[in-house]
Amino acid sequence: MKHGNSKQINEALAFLKAGELVALPTETVYGLGADAKNPAALSKIFLAKERPFTHPLIVHLAGPAQLSQWASVLPQAVKPLAEAFWPGPLTLILKKQPWVSDLLTGGQDSIGLRIPAHPMAQALLQAFGSGIAAPSANRFTHLSPTTAQAVREELGAKVACILDGGPCEVGLESTILDLSRDRPIILRPGMISASEIETVLQKPLSLSKEQAPHVPGSGPLHYAPETQVHLVSSTGPSSFLSSLRPHDLPLVILTQKKPAFEREGIQWIVMAEQPQRYAQDLYQTLRALDKQGFKKIVVETPPHDPGWEAIHDRLRKAAGRRI
Ligand code: TXA
Ligand code: MG
Repeated sequence: MKHGNSKQINEALAFLKAGELVALPTETVYGLGADAKNPAALSKIFLAKERPFTHPLIVHLAGPAQLSQWASVLPQAVKPLAEAFWPGPLTLILKKQPWVSDLLTGGQDSIGLRIPAHPMAQALLQAFGSGIAAPSANRFTHLSPTTAQAVREELGAKVACILDGGPCEVGLESTILDLSRDRPIILRPGMISASEIETVLQKPLSLSKEQAPHVPGSGPLHYAPETQVHLVSSTGPSSFLSSLRPHDLPLVILTQKKPAFEREGIQWIVMAEQPQRYAQDLYQTLRALDKQGFKKIVVETPPHDPGWEAIHDRLRKAAGRRI
């Protein structure tokens, strides 16, 4: 196995079976895992994250054969989506089985299910043989962790063990597609884009948010660093800079171009031009900058091209705006 070894997996497995919390790498972000059939273990997730009990959890499974244990209805769309995107960064919201705990669903009649691709997550899920509930392994409203070190900073002693699977490849949370109602709706954009899903479904997706249930992450100031994040137009931060006062400094600017100028108190970070690489680095970059005492993190808005939707969504949330 590339990441970790069977000793670590066995240790994590023993903790899960004992009702303890285990942080695990997935290809999107690190998850805070617990036995999805153990209510006492699930309660620990909410306490560790300081997350309200009404916010539903995603249950991670080893493979599609387990879906019908948790979901009472598998619409036709599930098969082609599973073939195209699983294992991978897609979560499906499906009608739940009657026995499924309210702790997983936030009291709703649906459940979020995902089959992650990371080899350590897969190894743990296969050994466990049942569902692992895992929200992102951060405290409520914080940035999701994309390294084991970031999990340690977020949750430290609140988890029994942290499986270190290296930096997450995708870097942003999964795309959430709700298939539990009449029409499919994207509840959270991710690096699997709406148009990729439309291609597989061979029909347009509804983007209406009105019917969507309350979803944490759709409110303001979610996925946010402590330092104030300020978005500026990609035509350049010059008008923003001319309004700067000395007390705004030091600040850091995330750009995708060569830095426009040098100025005392301003640091530039050049981000990738490809959305996949930008997404991979974003949370880790924000997390590192958050510790450096900047008054502001200024982000030049990336292009509005296909493939950037999830990045725009998370940047708006980091800046504390409603989508
Ligand atoms: O990439 C990911 O999805 C990561 C990794 C660990 O798998 N997990 C993650 O979990 O981001 P969390 O709890 O931080 O975000 C899950 C989102 C929440 O916004 C939650 O409200 C939504 O999924 N969700 C879960 N079950 C739902 C349901 N039945 N109906 C509507 N939304 C649901
Ligand atoms: Mg989260």
